This record gives sequence, C-alpha cells and structure tokens, in this order.
Amino acid sequence: MSNDKKKALFICLGNICRSPIAEGVFQKTVNDMNVGDQWEIDSAAIGSWHVGNPPDWRALDTMKKHGVPYNNCARQIVSEDFNHYDFIFGMDEQNMRDLNKRAPKGSTAKLLLFGDFDPQGDRIIRDPYYDSDAKGFEKCYEQSVRCSKGFLESLQKETK
Ligand code: 4NP
Repeated sequence: MSNDKKKALFICLGNICRSPIAEGVFQKTVNDMNVGDQWEIDSAAIGSWHVGNPPDWRALDTMKKHGVPYNNCARQIVSEDFNHYDFIFGMDEQNMRDLNKRAPKGSTAKLLLFGDFDPQGDRIIRDPYYDSDAKGFEKCYEQSVRCSKGFLESLQKETK
C-alpha cells in the first residue's frame, strides 16, 4: 500500500548538517517502532551550494556514533515537494520563512518547525556548519531524537 505512505521531508539551509541528521534519526525512529514501511522520508536544502554532496563529516560522525545509517546526498527543494510531501519540517525560523515564501499557492504539505515537537521546548535547531567543533551536531542529534518521537506521538493522538 505504498500510496498510503505518509511522507516527510526535512529541510535546512545546506542539506549537509541538520536536515540529514533529522532525516536519519526520523528514519531510525520509525524503523525501531516497526513502522518504517509506512513512511517515505527525505531531506533537502533551501540553497543549491552543496547539491550532490554527502553530509558534512561531523554530521556523518555523529550519526555513526549513534548507530544511525545514512547514505543520501544533498539536493535542493523543488516546487513539486510542496504537494508530494505531507509534512515539510524546517530547522529554524529562517527556514520557515523561506519555505513559506517558496510554497506554491494552494500546495498541500504542512510546513512545520521540527522543534515545535520537542517536549523540552528547545524550538530552534541551530546551524552548526561554521562551528569549530562537533558539539552543535551532537545537540542537533539529541533534538532530532526528541522531536521525532514528539511528532510521532502527536500524530498518534490526532488519529485516536
Ligand atoms: P545546514 O548547514 O543548513 O544545517 O546544512 C549549512 C551548511 C552549509 C551552509 C550553511 C548552512 N553554507 O552556507 O554553505
């Protein structure tokens, strides 16, 4: 029943730091819940700078450390995404402004701030690209774990 799959797209500025981690963690979360086959999951960038590139090595290291498989490469969001996906998640307020600006009129995807699903209320997943270490990537991982669970719980409540 592939047509019934729920579809989620994770967005950040470059698609090499935060959204790959969010994508990998969300995929692992649904896999661990044995509902991975019910989801189509991807990530993409607002900008085109890193199209075709693998994630930043610190993002890959962080995922590896936590047993999150990942082998996707960066792509830029396209207008079709706004009707293909059910949920498009941004990482910060600038992502949300960019998404709202790019969404074609009448498109159906829900544009959501991923951090709004953090039970700890840490709403912004900060861009760690220019950091001199990997701490921001670890934080992004921890936030993605909480937000993935929080979002899936909110969906369950909605459908009950
Ligand atoms: P991301 O981080 O949006 O989390 O992937 C960034 C990566 C690259 C750039 C900015 C943010 N950049 O300007 O190249």
